[in-house]
Amino acid sequence: MERLHQRQCRLLRRSRLARRCHQGRQDRFRSAVDRSAAADGERVGSASVIRDRVRVSSLLPDFPWDTIAGAKAQAAAHPDGLVDLSVGTPVDPVDPLIRAALTSVAEVPGYPTTYGTSELREAAVAAVARRFGMTGLGPDAVLPVIGTKELIAGLPRLLGLGASDLVVIPEVAYPTYEVGALLAGTRMLRADGMTRLGPESPALIFLNSPSNPTGRVLGVDHLRKVVSFARERGAIVASDECYLGLTWGAEAVSILDPRVSDGDHTGLLAIHSLSKTSNLASYRAGFVTGDGELIRELLEVRKHAGMMVPFPIQAAMTAALADDEHETVQRERYRARRTVLRKALEHSGFRIDHSEAGLYLWSTRGENCRTTLDWLAERGILAAPGDFYGPTGTEHVRIALTATDERIAAAAARLTT
Ligand SMILES: Cc1ncc(COP(=O)(O)O)c(C=O)c1O
Repeated sequence: MERLHQRQCRLLRRSRLARRCHQGRQDRFRSAVDRSAAADGERVGSASVIRDRVRVSSLLPDFPWDTIAGAKAQAAAHPDGLVDLSVGTPVDPVDPLIRAALTSVAEVPGYPTTYGTSELREAAVAAVARRFGMTGLGPDAVLPVIGTKELIAGLPRLLGLGASDLVVIPEVAYPTYEVGALLAGTRMLRADGMTRLGPESPALIFLNSPSNPTGRVLGVDHLRKVVSFARERGAIVASDECYLGLTWGAEAVSILDPRVSDGDHTGLLAIHSLSKTSNLASYRAGFVTGDGELIRELLEVRKHAGMMVPFPIQAAMTAALADDEHETVQRERYRARRTVLRKALEHSGFRIDHSEAGLYLWSTRGENCRTTLDWLAERGILAAPGDFYGPTGTEHVRIALTATDERIAAAAARLTT
């Protein structure tokens, strides 16, 4: 018990420290802006200089989707139309049960709470226990988020991390982990195994199993090693479990599975999105759960920033979490599309790596991904190049299963003739 408490203190020390350093950082920031404004003021006027100097977007990578505009134009020129398998956006309609829950409270005028309704948090606890065997959670340890992308992009900052902290992300990764590190100004390392870290003590480790883009699933042993490493070094583990409900054979387990956590959630966060499993990408609906103290800290900060999930969306989420049938129907749609597409890709010379879960086929023709992108575009198919996801993704393309049955059949026909 005493050891447990010490560990929690260590994990939160950074955010408290960060708070103490905050004023100092703000002062440094202001004086840098003032200095540059004074230096350049005469030339262009100080107001525009300040805007130029603090442009946060310049710290971030170029938006990668712009780089495939040419391939998209070529694919769209196909006589039978574009098959867009680049973005993993749902195409099947939101289940009527969820829509009814949304409209049932459409007349409510008041502000929602950041913490969400107790019904929503109870439904989330019941759903993750029923669907994924995640036990030992209470509704107090659930916090709704406005889609999980915003949480991921903000998490290092929300946890008070800064320049001296290291954030670890997977080698090939969903780009928003890097964005989160850049926005908080932390150091960042891509690593799939903890040995790459040497003696370093990271502040935060992002995991993503099943992975976007590779569909790789991390087993219980791997996850246990990460948890034990994180506990030795005082790191927080944020496990992005967006695709946990979309497995095609291999078992995918949560970081909060008792076989991984031994029932101790200290320092562990599991991030769950309803975008893919319940087709709720347009609603912006997710939640984070795990270590109660970390959840309370996130809640406190998010309350001040007004990061509230709209009330009708909370009602829709509650209904979606209480019902497994619509999820099963959707999973089976994707399973069928995956079978058709995988067969066609293999028939036309692709090798599919990993992809044992999730919504993507991580595919290669053993050449640079941009060459493969052009090859697909000639056939009217748009994919996402692997170099979007990290330097080791350059020989793969990510092919999404998120298209209608008709478009998937069209892609398969083009690949096999
Ligand atoms: C790995 C991963 N995490 C998080 C997200 C964000 O999902 P959302 O913001 O819709 O909850 C996505 C979306 O594609 C994703 O692939």
